[in-house]
Amino acid sequence: MPPAAAPEPHIPVLIRPLIAAVSPVSGTWLDGTFGNGGYTRALLDAGADKVIGVDRDPLAFEMAADWAGGDDRIELVEGVFSRLDEYAADIDGVVLDLGVSSMQLDLPERGFSFMRDGPLDMRMSQSGPSAADLCNEAEEADLADIIYLYGEERASRRIAKAIVAARPVTTTAQLAKVVEGCLPRAKPGQSHPATRTFQALRIAVNSEYEELAQGLMAAERALKPGGQLAVVTFHSVEDRMVKRFFAARSGNVANANRYAPETEQVTPAFRIEKRKAIGPGDQELAENPRSRSAKLRVAIRTDAPAQDIDPASLGMPIRKGGR
Ligand SMILES: C[S@@+](CC[C@H](N)C(=O)[O-])C[C@H]1O[C@@H](n2cnc3c(N)ncnc32)[C@H](O)[C@@H]1O
Repeated sequence: MPPAAAPEPHIPVLIRPLIAAVSPVSGTWLDGTFGNGGYTRALLDAGADKVIGVDRDPLAFEMAADWAGGDDRIELVEGVFSRLDEYAADIDGVVLDLGVSSMQLDLPERGFSFMRDGPLDMRMSQSGPSAADLCNEAEEADLADIIYLYGEERASRRIAKAIVAARPVTTTAQLAKVVEGCLPRAKPGQSHPATRTFQALRIAVNSEYEELAQGLMAAERALKPGGQLAVVTFHSVEDRMVKRFFAARSGNVANANRYAPETEQVTPAFRIEKRKAIGPGDQELAENPRSRSAKLRVAIRTDAPAQDIDPASLGMPIRKGGR
């Protein structure tokens, strides 16, 4: 009999292209999504003097205690990256690797995955309202909005109605079954019918788009002139937000039409060397199928003053009910 499969090791996504894009690496970097620490380690190996590792999940630091705890080049901060400029100033680089870690996804008790039955939780920070709270307490119309806007799920109304009818919904398996009941069976090669609904709830529970918009602005405030901002995204909405932020803050916004009033000229806060996003190479795709939809964008800070930007201008889906 073949040996039981070992848990899939975490392979930091796009790590080689990222290090190549930001090299030479030196000074102080902030890793806003510490996770399993893969980016932090790679930055130190590439020449960073110090890395401030930020994560909202206390478990990330428990898991890293034995290798990161005794290393004085690493400072660990439990917090959100939307506030990263409160943890560091005048730094040489910021990296953000968005989404959940493989560790969070693989632990059934964290409730992120429809593949593993567990409590319907999905909170990266392990505090605040959970996905079960959302499913059991939100208005049906708000649930439908979340599933449509954050999951790009066309059957959102049907699914929201079925969730309300099934209340209380308390486990991942139960939710997956409710969603499956609303959709045709997946054809070979298609994703599981619950994929989009789970993604939507996770984004809502963790305010992921608000975090991204605020995190980009916080990075602009924290970076020194010449400092680099590298962001790895996993789906089209995230990538669109980063692309628009970089375009707007590097002065690369064309007027929509020539009769429109001139858009206000702001001094560019970033310089972009490569407009096209960087994706995985063939070798990474073969080794790590999870890298399939990953995209990396890098921008270099100028000495222009930092400025806020309206998150709505980044193409962030906005729910009618507010957030
Ligand atoms: C994809 S993993 C990062 C993996 C990491 N680059 C590595 O190599 O191990 C994302 C991590 O970011 C954390 N995270 C997501 N959003 C966050 C936020 N807004 N603030 C702080 N941490 C966040 C998650 O808890 C998770 O641990």
